[in-house]
Amino acid sequence: MTEARASYGVDAPMVLAGLALGGVAELGVAAACFAAGWTILAVILLVGGLMLVAGAAFYAHTTLRGKFRVWDAELDALGLAGDERVLDLGCGRGLVLIKAAARVPAGHATGVDLWTSDQSGNSQDAAFANARTEGVAGRVELVTGDMRALPFEDGTFDLVVSSLAVHNIPDADGRAKAVAEALRVLRPGGRLRLADFRHTADYATVLREQGAVDVEVRDLGWRFWYGGPHARTALVGARRP
Ligand SMILES: C[S@@+](CC[C@H](N)C(=O)[O-])C[C@H]1O[C@@H](n2cnc3c(N)ncnc32)[C@H](O)[C@@H]1O
Repeated sequence: MTEARASYGVDAPMVLAGLALGGVAELGVAAACFAAGWTILAVILLVGGLMLVAGAAFYAHTTLRGKFRVWDAELDALGLAGDERVLDLGCGRGLVLIKAAARVPAGHATGVDLWTSDQSGNSQDAAFANARTEGVAGRVELVTGDMRALPFEDGTFDLVVSSLAVHNIPDADGRAKAVAEALRVLRPGGRLRLADFRHTADYATVLREQGAVDVEVRDLGWRFWYGGPHARTALVGARRP
Protein backbone atom coordinates (compact mmCIF):
# COMPACT_ATOMS: atom_id res chain seq x y z
CA MET A 1 0.00 0.00 0.00
CA THR A 2 1.34 3.47 -0.87
CA GLU A 3 1.66 5.78 2.13
CA ALA A 4 0.00 9.20 1.71
CA ARG A 5 2.53 12.03 1.61
CA ALA A 6 1.98 15.61 2.59
CA SER A 7 2.14 18.02 -0.33
CA TYR A 8 3.18 21.63 0.21
CA GLY A 9 2.79 23.12 -3.27
CA VAL A 10 4.91 25.70 -5.05
CA ASP A 11 5.25 29.32 -3.95
CA ALA A 12 4.16 31.84 -6.62
CA PRO A 13 4.06 29.11 -9.33
CA MET A 14 3.79 31.61 -12.20
CA VAL A 15 7.21 33.04 -11.32
CA LEU A 16 8.79 29.58 -11.55
CA ALA A 17 6.98 28.90 -14.84
CA GLY A 18 8.17 32.26 -16.22
CA LEU A 19 11.81 31.59 -15.33
CA ALA A 20 11.77 28.06 -16.79
CA LEU A 21 9.85 28.84 -19.99
CA GLY A 22 11.73 32.11 -20.55
CA GLY A 23 15.05 30.30 -20.17
CA VAL A 24 14.16 27.46 -22.53
CA ALA A 25 12.77 29.90 -25.11
CA GLU A 26 15.91 32.05 -24.93
CA LEU A 27 18.14 28.98 -25.38
CA GLY A 28 16.07 28.00 -28.42
CA VAL A 29 16.51 31.44 -29.98
CA ALA A 30 20.25 31.30 -29.15
CA ALA A 31 20.51 27.99 -31.03
CA ALA A 32 18.74 29.51 -34.04
CA CYS A 33 21.11 32.52 -33.96
CA PHE A 34 24.15 30.20 -33.88
CA ALA A 35 22.74 28.34 -36.90
CA ALA A 36 22.28 31.66 -38.73
CA GLY A 37 25.85 32.69 -37.95
CA TRP A 38 24.91 35.55 -35.61
CA THR A 39 27.47 34.48 -33.06
CA ILE A 40 27.63 37.51 -30.76
CA LEU A 41 23.85 37.71 -30.39
CA ALA A 42 23.75 33.94 -29.91
CA VAL A 43 26.30 34.09 -27.07
CA ILE A 44 24.38 36.89 -25.33
CA LEU A 45 21.14 34.92 -25.58
CA LEU A 46 22.88 31.73 -24.46
CA VAL A 47 24.18 33.40 -21.30
CA GLY A 48 20.77 34.98 -20.58
CA GLY A 49 18.99 31.68 -21.18
CA LEU A 50 21.37 29.76 -18.93
CA MET A 51 20.88 32.36 -16.16
CA LEU A 52 17.10 32.00 -16.37
CA VAL A 53 17.30 28.19 -16.32
CA ALA A 54 19.68 28.33 -13.34
CA GLY A 55 17.24 30.74 -11.64
CA ALA A 56 14.40 28.27 -12.22
CA ALA A 57 16.52 25.49 -10.70
CA PHE A 58 17.30 27.56 -7.59
CA TYR A 59 13.65 28.57 -7.27
CA ALA A 60 12.40 24.97 -7.58
CA HIS A 61 14.97 23.77 -5.05
CA THR A 62 14.01 26.48 -2.55
CA THR A 63 10.27 25.97 -2.76
CA LEU A 64 10.38 22.15 -2.82
CA ARG A 65 13.27 21.43 -0.47
CA GLY A 66 15.54 24.25 0.67
CA LYS A 67 13.01 26.15 2.76
CA PHE A 68 12.05 22.89 4.51
CA ARG A 69 15.62 22.35 5.70
CA VAL A 70 16.08 25.99 6.71
CA TRP A 71 12.89 26.02 8.79
CA ASP A 72 13.85 22.70 10.42
CA ALA A 73 17.09 24.33 11.57
CA GLU A 74 15.41 27.58 12.69
CA LEU A 75 12.72 25.79 14.70
CA ASP A 76 15.26 23.41 16.27
CA ALA A 77 17.42 26.39 17.25
CA LEU A 78 14.54 27.84 19.29
CA GLY A 79 14.86 25.03 21.84
CA LEU A 80 11.10 24.75 22.32
CA ALA A 81 9.86 23.19 25.55
CA GLY A 82 7.05 21.40 23.70
CA ASP A 83 4.03 23.12 25.25
CA GLU A 84 4.13 26.40 23.32
CA ARG A 85 1.23 28.06 21.50
CA VAL A 86 2.44 28.86 17.99
CA LEU A 87 0.92 31.08 15.30
CA ASP A 88 1.89 30.91 11.60
CA LEU A 89 0.99 34.00 9.55
CA GLY A 90 0.15 33.13 5.92
CA CYS A 91 0.53 29.41 6.61
CA GLY A 92 -0.47 28.30 3.09
CA ARG A 93 -0.50 24.50 2.89
CA GLY A 94 1.05 24.37 6.35
CA LEU A 95 4.76 23.77 5.90
CA VAL A 96 6.03 25.82 8.86
CA LEU A 97 2.83 25.39 10.86
CA ILE A 98 3.10 21.59 10.76
CA LYS A 99 6.84 21.59 11.48
CA ALA A 100 6.12 23.76 14.53
CA ALA A 101 3.20 21.56 15.61
CA ALA A 102 5.47 18.51 15.47
CA ARG A 103 7.79 20.23 17.97
CA VAL A 104 5.06 21.12 20.50
CA PRO A 105 3.41 17.80 21.40
CA ALA A 106 1.80 19.38 24.47
CA GLY A 107 1.11 22.70 22.74
CA HIS A 108 -0.97 24.08 19.92
CA ALA A 109 -0.35 25.53 16.45
CA THR A 110 -2.67 27.97 14.68
CA GLY A 111 -2.39 28.94 11.03
CA VAL A 112 -3.92 32.08 9.56
CA ASP A 113 -4.32 32.59 5.83
CA LEU A 114 -6.49 34.24 3.21
CA TRP A 115 -5.76 31.38 0.77
CA THR A 116 -4.85 33.66 -2.16
CA SER A 117 -3.26 32.22 -5.30
CA ASP A 118 0.28 32.94 -4.06
CA GLN A 119 0.89 29.22 -3.51
CA SER A 120 -0.31 26.38 -5.73
CA GLY A 121 -3.39 24.62 -4.35
CA ASN A 122 -3.40 26.38 -0.97
CA SER A 123 -6.62 26.04 0.99
CA GLN A 124 -7.77 25.28 4.49
CA ASP A 125 -8.60 21.71 3.39
CA ALA A 126 -5.14 21.19 1.85
CA ALA A 127 -3.40 22.44 5.00
CA PHE A 128 -5.56 20.29 7.24
CA ALA A 129 -5.02 17.21 5.04
CA ASN A 130 -1.24 17.77 5.38
CA ALA A 131 -1.60 18.12 9.16
CA ARG A 132 -3.49 14.79 9.25
CA THR A 133 -0.88 13.09 7.08
CA GLU A 134 1.91 14.34 9.34
CA GLY A 135 0.02 13.20 12.46
CA VAL A 136 -0.40 16.63 14.09
CA ALA A 137 -4.01 17.51 13.16
CA GLY A 138 -5.14 17.15 16.78
CA ARG A 139 -3.18 20.23 17.80
CA VAL A 140 -3.57 22.31 14.64
CA GLU A 141 -6.20 24.97 14.08
CA LEU A 142 -6.73 26.84 10.81
CA VAL A 143 -8.29 30.28 10.65
CA THR A 144 -9.29 32.21 7.55
CA GLY A 145 -8.14 35.71 8.33
CA ASP A 146 -6.00 38.67 7.36
CA MET A 147 -2.69 39.04 9.14
CA ARG A 148 -3.24 42.83 9.23
CA ALA A 149 -6.10 42.35 11.72
CA LEU A 150 -5.53 39.14 13.66
CA PRO A 151 -8.59 37.73 15.44
CA PHE A 152 -6.66 36.98 18.66
CA GLU A 153 -6.30 38.65 22.05
CA ASP A 154 -3.05 40.40 23.00
CA GLY A 155 -0.42 37.99 24.32
CA THR A 156 -2.03 34.77 23.04
CA PHE A 157 1.07 33.08 21.57
CA ASP A 158 4.56 32.04 22.69
CA LEU A 159 5.92 32.00 19.15
CA VAL A 160 4.84 33.67 15.91
CA VAL A 161 6.34 32.42 12.64
CA SER A 162 5.80 33.42 9.03
CA SER A 163 7.42 32.36 5.78
CA LEU A 164 7.27 34.35 2.55
CA ALA A 165 3.84 35.75 3.30
CA VAL A 166 4.05 39.36 4.56
CA HIS A 167 5.50 40.70 1.27
CA ASN A 168 2.18 39.79 -0.39
CA ILE A 169 0.61 42.79 1.29
CA PRO A 170 0.99 45.45 -1.41
CA ASP A 171 1.46 48.58 0.70
CA ALA A 172 4.02 49.50 3.35
CA ASP A 173 1.33 50.55 5.85
CA GLY A 174 -0.37 47.17 5.52
CA ARG A 175 2.90 45.30 6.01
CA ALA A 176 3.69 47.43 9.06
CA LYS A 177 0.24 46.58 10.46
CA ALA A 178 0.89 42.86 9.98
CA VAL A 179 4.26 43.05 11.75
CA ALA A 180 2.76 45.10 14.61
CA GLU A 181 -0.06 42.55 14.89
CA ALA A 182 2.48 39.72 15.11
CA LEU A 183 4.11 41.48 18.07
CA ARG A 184 0.78 42.32 19.73
CA VAL A 185 -0.38 38.68 19.88
CA LEU A 186 2.91 37.52 21.45
CA ARG A 187 3.01 37.08 25.22
CA PRO A 188 5.75 39.01 27.07
CA GLY A 189 8.94 37.09 26.34
CA GLY A 190 7.39 35.47 23.26
CA ARG A 191 9.44 35.21 20.09
CA LEU A 192 8.93 36.12 16.43
CA ARG A 193 10.64 34.46 13.44
CA LEU A 194 9.61 35.97 10.12
CA ALA A 195 11.23 34.98 6.80
CA ASP A 196 10.77 37.07 3.68
CA PHE A 197 12.65 37.97 0.51
CA ARG A 198 11.78 41.67 0.55
CA HIS A 199 11.16 44.47 3.06
CA THR A 200 12.84 42.69 5.99
CA ALA A 201 14.74 45.84 7.09
CA ASP A 202 11.37 47.65 7.21
CA TYR A 203 9.90 44.88 9.37
CA ALA A 204 12.83 45.25 11.78
CA THR A 205 12.27 49.03 11.95
CA VAL A 206 8.58 48.55 12.77
CA LEU A 207 9.43 46.00 15.46
CA ARG A 208 11.93 48.36 17.12
CA GLU A 209 9.40 51.21 16.97
CA GLN A 210 6.82 48.96 18.61
CA GLY A 211 9.24 48.18 21.45
CA ALA A 212 10.43 44.69 20.46
CA VAL A 213 13.85 43.61 21.74
CA ASP A 214 16.57 41.32 20.32
CA VAL A 215 15.59 42.47 16.84
CA GLU A 216 17.87 41.03 14.16
CA VAL A 217 17.84 40.47 10.39
CA ARG A 218 19.85 37.49 9.21
CA ASP A 219 20.44 36.09 5.72
CA LEU A 220 19.16 32.51 5.33
CA GLY A 221 21.63 31.43 2.64
CA TRP A 222 21.40 29.93 -0.84
CA ARG A 223 18.86 27.27 0.14
CA PHE A 224 16.31 30.10 0.40
CA TRP A 225 17.05 31.89 -2.89
CA TYR A 226 13.93 32.44 -4.99
CA GLY A 227 15.74 32.39 -8.33
CA GLY A 228 19.18 33.67 -7.39
CA PRO A 229 21.13 35.91 -5.01
CA HIS A 230 19.01 38.92 -6.05
CA ALA A 231 15.99 37.24 -4.37
CA ARG A 232 17.52 35.96 -1.17
CA THR A 233 15.48 35.44 1.95
CA ALA A 234 16.28 36.91 5.34
CA LEU A 235 14.95 36.02 8.76
CA VAL A 236 13.70 38.73 11.08
CA GLY A 237 13.94 37.65 14.70
CA ALA A 238 12.53 39.55 17.68
CA ARG A 239 11.19 39.13 21.19
CA ARG A 240 8.38 40.90 23.01
CA PRO A 241 9.84 42.40 26.19
C1 LIG B 1 4.14 32.04 -0.75
S1 LIG B 1 2.80 31.50 0.27
C2 LIG B 1 3.74 30.82 1.64
C3 LIG B 1 2.93 29.81 2.42
C4 LIG B 1 3.67 29.14 3.58
N1 LIG B 1 4.04 30.13 4.58
C5 LIG B 1 4.88 28.39 3.10
O1 LIG B 1 6.01 28.86 3.31
O2 LIG B 1 4.73 27.32 2.51
C6 LIG B 1 2.13 33.01 0.97
C7 LIG B 1 0.80 32.79 1.71
O3 LIG B 1 0.41 34.03 2.31
C8 LIG B 1 -1.01 34.13 2.23
N2 LIG B 1 -1.40 35.53 2.40
C9 LIG B 1 -1.18 36.56 1.55
N3 LIG B 1 -1.65 37.71 2.06
C10 LIG B 1 -2.18 37.41 3.28
C11 LIG B 1 -2.83 38.19 4.30
N4 LIG B 1 -2.99 39.52 4.17
N5 LIG B 1 -3.23 37.56 5.43
C12 LIG B 1 -3.07 36.22 5.56
N6 LIG B 1 -2.46 35.43 4.62
C13 LIG B 1 -2.04 36.01 3.49
C14 LIG B 1 -1.31 33.53 0.87
O4 LIG B 1 -2.66 33.13 0.76
C15 LIG B 1 -0.34 32.35 0.80
O5 LIG B 1 -0.90 31.17 1.29
